[in-house]
Amino acid sequence: MALERTFSIVKPDATKRNLTGAICGMLEAGGLRIVAQKRIQMTLAQAQQFYSVHSERPFYGELCEFMISEPIVVQVLEGENAILRNREIMGATNPADADAGTIRKVHALSLGENSVHGSDAPETAAEEIAFFFSGLELVG
Ligand code: CMP
Repeated sequence: MALERTFSIVKPDATKRNLTGAICGMLEAGGLRIVAQKRIQMTLAQAQQFYSVHSERPFYGELCEFMISEPIVVQVLEGENAILRNREIMGATNPADADAGTIRKVHALSLGENSVHGSDAPETAAEEIAFFFSGLELVG
């Protein structure tokens, strides 16, 4: 398997509790390398666009408001099978269902305030990376 890249967010509930380093440490300990990273605060329009796939879901408004409530850390992770590996390290979307030792089991507060986001497929990874990072910010 060749090296793969995926997109990751440290969400507002985690940056607010000063868990950025702890979470990035879990990603690195799990074998992923942070190859691009920045701390930003999204506008509502950006959050709505980023999560547009969920626009018909009942939680869309709450999700977008939450994602702009505090700064977030957006990053690109690289490693063998990085998309799947990141999802393993994050654990299930709902922390109540997440395996022991995963980021969401250890740090997440609820299904909404679940500390991290990670791409679910190669196409979404490419789209999500391009949404936040320019080519100049992505070293080879
Ligand atoms: P994320 O991986 O960022 O993608 C969409 C987010 O919606 C998800 O993580 C959850 O944090 C959030 N969310 C809030 N409510 C729900 C819900 N009922 N079902 C699924 N996702 C939800």
